[in-house]
Amino acid sequence: MHLDTEAQTPRWWLGGDPVATAVLNALSLTFPEGERFFIQSIKRYAKDLPADLAADVRAFTQQEGAHTREHIAFNQITARSGYETEAVEAYAGRRLDIARARPPLAQLAATMALEHFTAAFAHCLLADRKFLAGAPEGLANLWRWHSIEEIEHKGVAYDVFMHATRKMSPWRRWGIRRWAMILTTVLFTRTLRETSLMLLQQDGITGLSASWALFRFLWLRPGLYRRMLGDYLAFYRPGFHPWQVDDRALIVQAEMTLGADGLQSEAA
Ligand SMILES: [Fe+2]
Ligand SMILES: [Fe+2]
Repeated sequence: MHLDTEAQTPRWWLGGDPVATAVLNALSLTFPEGERFFIQSIKRYAKDLPADLAADVRAFTQQEGAHTREHIAFNQITARSGYETEAVEAYAGRRLDIARARPPLAQLAATMALEHFTAAFAHCLLADRKFLAGAPEGLANLWRWHSIEEIEHKGVAYDVFMHATRKMSPWRRWGIRRWAMILTTVLFTRTLRETSLMLLQQDGITGLSASWALFRFLWLRPGLYRRMLGDYLAFYRPGFHPWQVDDRALIVQAEMTLGADGLQSEAA
């Protein structure tokens, strides 16, 4: 997948909707730093993994590296649309510093939690075509491709965490998992909210109307968080594993709709 950064892109590329555009732009601006954090926190525990999990980690690293490359290109489009993006990236970087200051196992647990978040988000994006309706084909394909790969590797951080904590009691691991998800949810949601508001402000949408518009997008229509809620809550169950939700059929179908366009981009 290679994004065409020369294509003409409207400022509100997602169906002319400034709020939907702001949320996806904000997410994309956090990805390069975030994905580097994921790779680092997993690689620290990559030394004595079983062969199949070590291969999964290598594939994970390659996929996240490719996402970073393409989202840097996507972020250039956002900047070219007239948005001041550096302050947004700097804010997201400072939020990540909070996670980076934690012990290595906590960083791995945060990665596991965030990977669950991204997989649940990816599932929503692929399951309901309305989310990307009105987006230029090249940009929609970038998000579909990223979503497919997030689902493909959704169990890797979890499996590395389980391997790293294999000598702990199941009760203790469950406790770490729950706390990691609670803290990560607070940190991630605040970051998403603040970075989205920073972009909306540049469209003249501020104060209560910006907060309301964001709340409506996340919880009501299309209700991104509301739709993810079931998947999200499943993480708190004892004995949870990401592949208890088997969405392989969804990614096969998405690969087909990605279609000739995406495949040609890859071949090029
Ligand atoms: Fe990614
Ligand atoms: Fe990922």
